[in-house]
Amino acid sequence: MSWFYESHKLAPGYRLLRPLQDREGRILLQAGTILTQRHLELIQQWGVQNILLLAEKPSKSEMSNQVTRTHVIDAALQNMITDTLTEVFINIASEKALPLDRLQYSASLLVREIASHRNVALDLSALRSSDENTYNHSLSVAVLAIATGVELGLADEVLMDLAMGALLHDIGKTKIAPAIINKPGQLTAEERVIIEQHPLWGVQLLQEKGHSSPRVLQAVYEHHERSDGSGYPQGLSDEQISLLGKITAVADYYDAMTSDRSYHAAQPAYLVIEQLIAYSLTTFNQAIVRAFVRSLAPYPVGSRVLLDTGEWGEVIGYDRRMPTRPRVLVTHDAAYNQLPHPREYDLLVHLNRFVVRVM
Ligand SMILES: [Fe+2]
Repeated sequence: MSWFYESHKLAPGYRLLRPLQDREGRILLQAGTILTQRHLELIQQWGVQNILLLAEKPSKSEMSNQVTRTHVIDAALQNMITDTLTEVFINIASEKALPLDRLQYSASLLVREIASHRNVALDLSALRSSDENTYNHSLSVAVLAIATGVELGLADEVLMDLAMGALLHDIGKTKIAPAIINKPGQLTAEERVIIEQHPLWGVQLLQEKGHSSPRVLQAVYEHHERSDGSGYPQGLSDEQISLLGKITAVADYYDAMTSDRSYHAAQPAYLVIEQLIAYSLTTFNQAIVRAFVRSLAPYPVGSRVLLDTGEWGEVIGYDRRMPTRPRVLVTHDAAYNQLPHPREYDLLVHLNRFVVRVM
């Protein structure tokens, strides 16, 4: 419903139907702006809090797609999981018992943490570490997979298996020489055959250690399968791949492509998400890609971003169906001079603009 509101009575989510101008007639916020908490603070600072504004109250469905807040996974929990995973990966091939109970406990905390913030997109930047290794990768894949599972409404016991499967998905790589895993150039045909066995070896290692949950083993076995049959090791089609296998595959692909590896440089999040959306017609399952995209925040609210214009700004919100096109409050020009009146770019409207880098 549209109405005139005194500016101090507006709340996040309201959409301006006329531009907000200062006393000299300069436009502070464009018509169509969806107000965020940050805008309301700025309205206070600009001293225009008692004027009447034509605005529209958002509908429920519109609100459910607006993200104005993002959540960071607790650092102590991240460390606890990567420490336990390190022990599991190092001891998997030895006679030593694995701390799988401890891993299960950590996974349950992770599931609880993500499920209890189900209406808040996850801040992935906090998961990025300068120390890119298998354990950090496994943790990121687990967080992405659980968030997707929560978005799909999976039951807690299924989310637990998804968490364990995602944490352990690459355990079969412990059987492969690091020289092959980290090889910078093209793999030979023989090396490729070896690499393509790691999902199967992972299942065998876990079975030898008495880990027999079928859903966990399927997630490990199928994390490189693709819906069009182009994956490995079995070349399964979409109907043949388990739900947890499909989710783990999307999460693994996203994290691998957005990370630096010996054989490729990290790609920006927006490019990888756009690739995933394009591939969801063939390579990946569409419903899962959609849930995946809705659950993550590649550009968390409050983060500083560099635009392709060279300007700097702050992410103030986005539509969760298109997280690569946030609303950015531009605060500095390309020479890093602070703007007297920050202005908003809605990248869903300015389609020729994009985020180059997030700090
Ligand atoms: Fe893998």
